[in-house]
Amino acid sequence: MDLLSITSLSDDQIATILDEGERWFAYNRQPRRNDHRLDGLTIVNAFFENSTRTLLSFEIAANRLGAQVVTMQVEHSSIKKGETLADTARTLNAMRPDVLVIRHGTSGAPADVARIMDCPVINGGDGIGEHPTQALLDAATLRQHFGRIEGLKIAICGDLKHSRVARSNALLLTRLGAELRFAGPPSLLPDDIAGGTIEEAVVGADAVMMLRVQRERLSEELGDGPGEYLAHYGLTKERFAHAAPYAVVMHPGPINRGVEIDGALADHDERSLIVRQVEMGVAVRMACLDLLTADRRVRP
Ligand code: NCD
Repeated sequence: MDLLSITSLSDDQIATILDEGERWFAYNRQPRRNDHRLDGLTIVNAFFENSTRTLLSFEIAANRLGAQVVTMQVEHSSIKKGETLADTARTLNAMRPDVLVIRHGTSGAPADVARIMDCPVINGGDGIGEHPTQALLDAATLRQHFGRIEGLKIAICGDLKHSRVARSNALLLTRLGAELRFAGPPSLLPDDIAGGTIEEAVVGADAVMMLRVQRERLSEELGDGPGEYLAHYGLTKERFAHAAPYAVVMHPGPINRGVEIDGALADHDERSLIVRQVEMGVAVRMACLDLLTADRRVRP
């Protein structure tokens, strides 16, 4: 079994990951974590795009379950000598890893690699495609906070066109019964999503999920000078005041303070779940690694 997209997961698998994620979240708050269920297994991380949260949380998750973790140094790899991704995959496969976690700038690259690998492959974010483990950790964070997802009004705002996080979240949160609203600059709204202004999306929302502008994927200039993006499309205190009184703000990170979100809102003790999302990220990735390796483990 691979974890390439939200669509490929069954309802049961989603429920297991969310339940187990919440369980690992509590487990991770203990002073010692000595689980050994992945003893003797090797997890390889191959990240062809930058990452802080996703890469580190996969490393920590694998370590906490007792696996051996190896992270490929892409900058120092033979990719730089012209090796194709398929040949790199064949090379990695020959080393017999038990899970490969891959992030790549090309949408669909993890699926191509999964066809070559004999072990489960996890998509850690592919171009403007999907980022399924981010959506799973976002859903787990929401469910932990509100006790449910069904019926929640969730605004997803920002660069929807280039956001794999938004794509996976739209698929997952809709499936779990949330009511989604979308907003972003007109040039950053995909054709298949009906989006409005951020004011419309935020009114009465239970949660507001902000997205970073993916400048590395933008060919054209946005035409926003300093402060202009926040003024027109960002989450300011004034806009957030129109959400539900108990509303929370989320962001997958990395945040650009003062661009898509007011820094004080991002840091807000009661209203911001941004740091909680990171903590849940480790827990949910433990749940994913556990689920994907279940049939590879030798039971005593
Ligand atoms: C996101 C990503 O890389 O897709 N970050 C993450 O994994 N937490 C979002 C982003 O880079 O803006």
